[in-house]
Amino acid sequence: MNALGDRVRQAPQAATQGAIRIDDVVKIYDPEGSAVMAVDHCTLDIPAGEICMIVGPSGCGKTTLLNAIAGFHSITSGSIHLDGQLLCGPGKPLAAPGSDRIVVFQNGALFPWKTNLDNVAFGPLMQGKMDRKAIYEKARHMMADAGLSGTENNFPGEVSSGLRRRVEIVRALMNDPKVLLFDEPYRALDSLTKSVMHEALLEVYYKNKVTIFFITHDLEEAIFLGHRLVIMTSRPCRPKKILTVDIPHPRDYGVLTSPRFRELMEETSSVVHEEARKSFASGEREG
Ligand SMILES: Nc1ncnc2c1ncn2[C@@H]1O[C@H](COP(=O)(O)OP(=O)(O)O)[C@@H](O)[C@H]1O
Ligand SMILES: [Mg+2]
Repeated sequence: MNALGDRVRQAPQAATQGAIRIDDVVKIYDPEGSAVMAVDHCTLDIPAGEICMIVGPSGCGKTTLLNAIAGFHSITSGSIHLDGQLLCGPGKPLAAPGSDRIVVFQNGALFPWKTNLDNVAFGPLMQGKMDRKAIYEKARHMMADAGLSGTENNFPGEVSSGLRRRVEIVRALMNDPKVLLFDEPYRALDSLTKSVMHEALLEVYYKNKVTIFFITHDLEEAIFLGHRLVIMTSRPCRPKKILTVDIPHPRDYGVLTSPRFRELMEETSSVVHEEARKSFASGEREG
């Protein structure tokens, strides 16, 4: 039985928004001075609603790419589109940050002095586009959908870390983003805690089909969560291998022991290790 699938009451709607097109993007830090090239003619198409896992060695340029999509910093050349709209490109090197793309900052991003419900409602309340009653109705509804019923009036510190992560994701989803951006959110966690986080993420995703751009250097995490894996070269990064994970969603931890999962691990681990070795040889440190 697929335990996670059983808890997904309705089939997820296919996403119609959130397609990212990264076209020939180059990012050079400090071109006039020490000139560090972090992204090298990177081209990548991410369809709406895909969980796209970006895997690559530390310092290869993954965060640089995420920051360019989020609009936290400029690109040197190339372009990035979201649903056909130019985010950044010729004549517009910096994408304007917007609520259509949200970086989910894990761990500590919630206000500890606000209840979970008030945390979830916070963004839309600040924007003031919806009335208060409608915001709280939506917040309660989304929390219930994410398995957070009964925790509305708790403070973040009063619930388990797994539930807290759900609150963080639901809070991001309250803004109706098209894309969620994750930058190695679970890197410091032990594998058991990680599995709880993965379950939380997938469960919320199955109810809210957004595009997920997820950086990790954990290959098992990448294959478990992703529709596709993009294995990056060592710095400067560009896709070295793109692989579709042909294991159907919804997934649960049973897939980790399936023959196909092991095959995919074998197929990709040598590629990842080769790039990690190159990165290590060039003295790259974590970025
Ligand atoms: N603001 C910056 N100025 C100069 N170099 C930077 C800056 N940010 C990152 N870098 C360099 O760019 C490269 C890629 O960094 P980053 O995108 O953080 O890699 P990753 O996320 O894959 O670990 C690294 O060599 C890093 O030192
Ligand atoms: Mg990084």
